[in-house]
Amino acid sequence: MARVLVTRRLPEGGLDPLVDDGHEVLQRADDTPYTHAELVELAATVDAVVCLLTDRIDEHVLQAGASGGLRVVANVAVGYDNVDVATARRLGIAVCNTPGVLDETTADVAFLLVLGASRLASEAERDLRNGDWHGWGITQYLGHDVHGATLGLVGYGRIGTAVARRASGFGMQVLHHTRHPTEMPGYVAALDDLLAESDVVSVHVPLTDATRHLIGAQELALLRPHAVVVNTSRGPVVDEEALAEALHAGTVFAAGLDVYEREPEVHPRLLSAPRTMLLPHIGSASRATRTRMARVACAGACAALAGRRPENLVTA
Ligand code: GLV
Repeated sequence: MARVLVTRRLPEGGLDPLVDDGHEVLQRADDTPYTHAELVELAATVDAVVCLLTDRIDEHVLQAGASGGLRVVANVAVGYDNVDVATARRLGIAVCNTPGVLDETTADVAFLLVLGASRLASEAERDLRNGDWHGWGITQYLGHDVHGATLGLVGYGRIGTAVARRASGFGMQVLHHTRHPTEMPGYVAALDDLLAESDVVSVHVPLTDATRHLIGAQELALLRPHAVVVNTSRGPVVDEEALAEALHAGTVFAAGLDVYEREPEVHPRLLSAPRTMLLPHIGSASRATRTRMARVACAGACAALAGRRPENLVTA
């Protein structure tokens, strides 16, 4: 039996793999996040950590873990930029994540933002709720059609392709850009060309040193004034200050965001930007998907604790 720190409450049934394997689960009774100092202290006392993307598992946590018996960090997310994977690899601590189980759910939210931002749904709803809608008007809330528009996907992995399937159903033309040629229809080799040709741009790349601010002021300047920017990946992939400026200046028509550079803070210029739909990082937030993510992460921890290779090992 191993001792496993689970940093937050998980959806019902999420802990099942740990419980079934008879592991001892260390978890706070209430759902207060552990501070970084607490994570460092606790890491030294456990064999595994099951954490969320909001937990910073940096070299301090990992080194403390290595000084005890920490063998695996299982991140309940597909993105793992919150974990210092290089240090984990060096210390022989396995890191695993939850790819595959959240693609369709996240693609649904990306498409919600494509539709909502293009058709100004947030602004319109806000006016209605505030009592500022005084009747139907032929020139009110004029967005841009999604059907017939060109969608440019930056990144074409599991989530990007799931968004592409939705876009085809809506009668969109779909282009995609990745660093390595996909040899698939719609591939555009240069990001700049994709940006210049798209009516809607949706970002689906992981956050790495290479993708930080991939969409910055220069890239935004390539967009046409009716373009819509959607981000459901990680906040820092888009320079949100530059995006806010473009929205205020009207050089980009609208934006739909689910992720932010400094969550849970949202840049004040984005909060005040026109034609902007903002969601609080709910891409994978369906009951079924979040439960699957928790189970997949816990199963990964169990595999490592049993001396097996976790299916979703990122330190391979
Ligand atoms: C959610 O943002 C995830 O990376 O799973």
